[in-house]
Amino acid sequence: MRKSLLTAAALLAGVVAMSQPRGSRLVVDADAAGIPIQPTMYGIFLEDINFAADGGLYAEKIANRSFEYDNPLQDWKTFGKVEVLTEGAPFERNPHYVRLRYQGHPAMLCGLQNDGWFGIGLEKDAEYRVSLWARTVGKAKESGLAAILCDPSGNVENQVLAMAPIEVKGSKWTKYELVLTCPKTIAKAAFRLLLWDDNPEAAVDVEHISLFPLDTFNGDENGLRKDLAQALADLQPGILRFPGGCIVEGTTLENRYQWKNTVGPVENRPININRWNYGTFERIFPDYYQSGGLGFYEYFRLAEEIGAEPVPIVSVGMACQFQNDPAWEPNCKMEDLQTYIQDGLDLIEFANGSPKTKWGKVRAQMGHPEPFGLKYLGIGNEQWGEAFMERFVPFMEAVRAKYPEIKIVGTSGPYSGGEWFDDLWKEMRRLNVDLVDEHYYSWEGFYEKRADRYDNYPRTGPKVFAGEYACHGSDGHKFNHFNAALLEASFMTGLERNADIVIMSSYAPTFAHIDGWQWRPDLIWFDNLRVMRSCSYYVQQLYAANKGDRVVPLTMDGKPVVNANNLNASAAIDDKTGDIIIKIANVSPYSQVVNFELPSNVTAGTRTTLHSDNAMAENTLDAPETVIPQSVEIDMKPVPDPKNEWIMGVRKTDDGKIILSERLGARTFAVYRFHR
Ligand code: AHR
Repeated sequence: MRKSLLTAAALLAGVVAMSQPRGSRLVVDADAAGIPIQPTMYGIFLEDINFAADGGLYAEKIANRSFEYDNPLQDWKTFGKVEVLTEGAPFERNPHYVRLRYQGHPAMLCGLQNDGWFGIGLEKDAEYRVSLWARTVGKAKESGLAAILCDPSGNVENQVLAMAPIEVKGSKWTKYELVLTCPKTIAKAAFRLLLWDDNPEAAVDVEHISLFPLDTFNGDENGLRKDLAQALADLQPGILRFPGGCIVEGTTLENRYQWKNTVGPVENRPININRWNYGTFERIFPDYYQSGGLGFYEYFRLAEEIGAEPVPIVSVGMACQFQNDPAWEPNCKMEDLQTYIQDGLDLIEFANGSPKTKWGKVRAQMGHPEPFGLKYLGIGNEQWGEAFMERFVPFMEAVRAKYPEIKIVGTSGPYSGGEWFDDLWKEMRRLNVDLVDEHYYSWEGFYEKRADRYDNYPRTGPKVFAGEYACHGSDGHKFNHFNAALLEASFMTGLERNADIVIMSSYAPTFAHIDGWQWRPDLIWFDNLRVMRSCSYYVQQLYAANKGDRVVPLTMDGKPVVNANNLNASAAIDDKTGDIIIKIANVSPYSQVVNFELPSNVTAGTRTTLHSDNAMAENTLDAPETVIPQSVEIDMKPVPDPKNEWIMGVRKTDDGKIILSERLGARTFAVYRFHR
């Protein structure tokens, strides 16, 4: 009896096998309870590296607007009598300002020019707010300035693009504002401020000179460059990690990221030298500073606007371990650790405290009385060793004692494995932190083969935050070529299949200015006017847009689809629509047939693919759509001749299941959405 049943089953299987094309058979168990995929699963890492913030996402056009770089006139050209002074400055934490004086002849102009970061990008017909603080000095009680947008490179009769006067009245520091409209689009414009007065007594002090587009993301004042912020929003991120990365740590503790310096009126946010100013010897950027203009308020606001959970990372009192020898004593003294801990606690109060609390009040005064609803705090970035544990433990305990609801993100150091990694994980388990931040900037072989990375992780204890990762091409191919993105997509099936363990992830870094990067590959490249979404960007977007709510089993020969016939795949269910979502990467250079076994109630479907015949293809600013996702409706009508194994398409099994046979292209990542 048993034998005859088995024979019948085998025969049935044979019937099905005969009526489908030869190839891999992937069976989705859509009725399984599955494992929840957290809304935080696919997110964004935002660090001011590669001029991501100042010179990028932060919409300010003037570099060194407060004259606070080490050389106060860095990024400014001056002509005539221009002095840098500090006496009687209006903003005590940014004490430098400039004095412009009449030069003794009306034709001898006095003023300043700023070229922004790699030039100033201006759009045709766009409006720009010029603002500055000024006062008259000396005998003249009134004086004049002229604000000018100009085209410094244009071989044209008139290099002035737009100009407006500013009447400065009185010796009290006053804010002046006006709006200039740019008549043409220009990638490398300049801004000039002239003393516009032929009174021999004329002298004007000027501070915090700003040029800001009126049209920012969400219309926010002190807001973000619209196209770049939109690129973030389009990722539909679950989290937004900030401010890094190494800038959390600083090259020295003095230039670590200090969030308290990035809130309150922008004029009084002290400047900080960026840790990436000292990036690599090969790519030297000797004037990379942070204005703090995109500070912690703007960060929380952005996270809210794009629907992402904020995941701030704070300094644990250790300067960048890569850039320091322990013999130099780069870490805070233990007796000073409390300052760092207090900064962390105060950050939580800034985000969540009532407006009656000290830091909640600062937030409310900045325009957001409601809490931001912070749930996570990362303590330290890429740290390791005893010095780290000595500081991490009391830090974590203090946060847990005061804010038990906040989830602690610990670290596993800078590498994807090895001694530091193992030791740190052991410690993080012992301390039962909520999440462990893992970083793996790795080569193609890693991403090709390690979709099983999390398959055997313990199912209890801390969850994983894959907080910084990217596939770096071999042979120095550190650009966002298609094959790297394909391998990331393939690897990410393993994140999704292990959604019970991996609950957050973020590709890193996110942004790079084409004229000023220190690190690549990067998700989004830009210049002063344009933005390019890399192949890796589209992978991230496809995952987030097709995240689903539960992972369900997807098997080939009874096993998860991991490095099977050069395929990696995962399946999820969207509980709102009932859609079955399958993500599959064929990493081989050959196309292959894949037969999906689907439940009988599937009625329609779409297939979105990311593919290039050229593994080295990349999107560029000039050709941003070289490799982009392509979507098609799947024809769900049964094939006319189901016995013909060469025909791709839909067949029904005797027990009503649907077999969809597809020829998956060589080196292709595909997302299938099946509607029911
Ligand atoms: O993402 C670039 C850098 O890589 C980050 O700042 C750091 O955390 C890592 O080493």
